[in-house]
Amino acid sequence: MDVEITELEPSATVVDLCRRALDLPEDAAEAAAIVDALTRGAAAHRPVVVLGATRGADLTGVLVGSVSSREPGLGHVDLVAVAPGQRRRGVGRALLVEAQRRLAASGVTELLLAGNPPHYAWPGIDVRYTPAICAALAHGYRQDRTAWNMTVDLTDGSPAVRPTDAAQRRLAAQGVTVRRAEPADVPALTVFARGTFGGAWDGELAASVGRPEAGAHLAERDGQILGFAAYGSSRPSWFGPMGTAPAAEGLGIGGLLLRRCLRDQAAAGLRSAQIGWVGPVPFYSGTAGARIERVFFLYRKTLTGP
Ligand SMILES: CC(C)(COP(=O)(O)OP(=O)(O)OC[C@H]1O[C@@H](n2cnc3c(N)ncnc32)[C@H](O)[C@@H]1OP(=O)(O)O)[C@@H](O)C(=O)NCCC(=O)NCCS
Repeated sequence: MDVEITELEPSATVVDLCRRALDLPEDAAEAAAIVDALTRGAAAHRPVVVLGATRGADLTGVLVGSVSSREPGLGHVDLVAVAPGQRRRGVGRALLVEAQRRLAASGVTELLLAGNPPHYAWPGIDVRYTPAICAALAHGYRQDRTAWNMTVDLTDGSPAVRPTDAAQRRLAAQGVTVRRAEPADVPALTVFARGTFGGAWDGELAASVGRPEAGAHLAERDGQILGFAAYGSSRPSWFGPMGTAPAAEGLGIGGLLLRRCLRDQAAAGLRSAQIGWVGPVPFYSGTAGARIERVFFLYRKTLTGP
């Protein structure tokens, strides 16, 4: 029976397929959050296409693609997953070809197998998804970058969850207060992040502050924001982004904000967190004992026609 590719609405069936098809347990465990972030969460900000592959009545594969909100000629494959019993039968190929066709028709000239921030589940293809890497090469994609996450242990005794009171008192002596960010802080946080680091983090701030399984902390002095750290915008176990104003660097603000977020994630029951798409390795290693673990290859292909 031939595979048929159609547009889908995200549903419990899609989540279930992803749960079965994402071979790494840490991804399967967050399948519901991933599907929600890449479809409903992303669709408010950029064009999104959700494709399903069916054989008869069975959903055998899913692909989520999107267009960059900054560069309309740039498309992304955010997720592709084929049910374990259905692999090497052309399902992944059929999904990719249809995604390429649809994205090209909407003006995309370059397609990335890479995360489309702020709504992304992976920076690229985790090297342990080796079949996906083989499929990318078979489809004429070339690797153009490498990215990595850092893993932080959140169990008792880890440097990531050591008490923050002393650090907080040291900062208070310098007039700096640190607190949880509330929804009313989002406009000021956005202005701060834009003005200090460019416009890349608006979406992640909006999707973190005051949302379930997510949050942010900020540092301020005399009503001026000096830094922030956020977690959970696309995946509950993922930390980031964070930033300290250059003028306030070296006071220990970043390390304290990071550990306050990690403490929230530990309190929510997580035993480890991922610092996504890093970033300053020595800082995370030094302040939270983080280690590089997940490594991702990012792929790109020029679309020459439908
Ligand atoms: C990656 C994935 C989507 C591929 O789906 P698929 O339906 O098996 O892919 P296809 O049958 O269309 O394969 C297309 C080509 O990719 C290559 N390929 C796919 N799997 C391969 C493997 N295990 N080893 C070597 N090459 C492979 C082959 O060239 C294949 O063509 P061929 O079978 O004619 O030789 C599937 O393995 C999967 O769901 N993996 C888990 C989820 C995942 O890794 N997603 C990506 C991260 S988000």
